[in-house]
Amino acid sequence: MITCEGLVKIYKSDDLEVVALQGLNLHVREGEMMAIIGNSGSGKSTLLNILGGLDRPSAGQVSVGPWDLLKITDEQLVSYKRDTVGFIWQSNARNLLPYLTALENVEMPMMLSSKLDRAYAKQLLEWVGLKERMHNKLHQLSGGEQQRVAIAISLSNRPKLLLADEPTGSVDTRTSDLIMDIFRRLNREIGITIVIVTHDLSLAGKVDRVVAIRDGLTSTEFIKRNPNLDDKDQIGDHSTLGGAEAIHEEYVVVDRVGRLQIPKSYLTALQITDKASMEFDGERIIISPPKSLEG
Ligand SMILES: Nc1ncnc2c1ncn2[C@@H]1O[C@H](COP(=O)(O)OP(=O)(O)OP(=O)(O)O)[C@@H](O)[C@H]1O
Ligand SMILES: [Mg+2]
Repeated sequence: MITCEGLVKIYKSDDLEVVALQGLNLHVREGEMMAIIGNSGSGKSTLLNILGGLDRPSAGQVSVGPWDLLKITDEQLVSYKRDTVGFIWQSNARNLLPYLTALENVEMPMMLSSKLDRAYAKQLLEWVGLKERMHNKLHQLSGGEQQRVAIAISLSNRPKLLLADEPTGSVDTRTSDLIMDIFRRLNREIGITIVIVTHDLSLAGKVDRVVAIRDGLTSTEFIKRNPNLDDKDQIGDHSTLGGAEAIHEEYVVVDRVGRLQIPKSYLTALQITDKASMEFDGERIIISPPKSLEG
């Protein structure tokens, strides 16, 4: 569904350049539900905005389904955004209309892009647990309820890919659990691919795979494993999600040309600055400070 290879995003403002993504690699399978974590400023929103067609990549490769987002024309980008992706922000003030009802809010983008499908709009609000409140005006709903309306809106165009940037950032734990449960059900029932950006590591436990971004690069991956299952049963087995025995195993990401990112703390601990010595003993690769600096 998603392929990023050496994805670069540079923001230029006056004479200042910020390299927000510096050659990021990411692959997401169709039907996968995964999370992206990383410190503030690591490039998570930049990545999501590029995938959502809200921002243009600077270089590298990035494609979603059949769309090449580097080469896509402005015209194609409009239909890409309309037909392929749904987007949820941390604070949804920008795409909710306070004096319309929840139902009218979900119907609005349908009227603007495709055609109005009231039955589907109602079904979406039922999916997010707002059946009883769909005729309430937005400003009469709580923050968590408004966030669920935003989820319904993001699905109104029947997207294949749902992108959520800190979707639970401003709600309490109970609402956050509820929202994650909604995502999981949507993923299972309509097979939609979901990418969630989050700071919250406890949410990361609720998805199949977590990718950590560090300084605009994919650094490590955590893959959910259930020790009671054989390896062949792991992939795509959504029934084990949230299971008490499920654990995440951490892997370092190695790109196509063999590069990997070593955590800064490891380098500092070994006083490795610009070079290191590397040995292969037949089973392991050992990275240590340059010999000349030892002892
Ligand atoms: N429109 C922009 N113009 C210039 N620089 C930008 C712009 N948007 C983001 N940046 C810079 O790019 C880098 C990555 O920002 P980004 O918003 O992707 O981080 P993030 O991982 O989403 O952080 P947070 O967790 O705080 O939301 C930061 O250094 C940021 O200052
Ligand atoms: Mg962000």
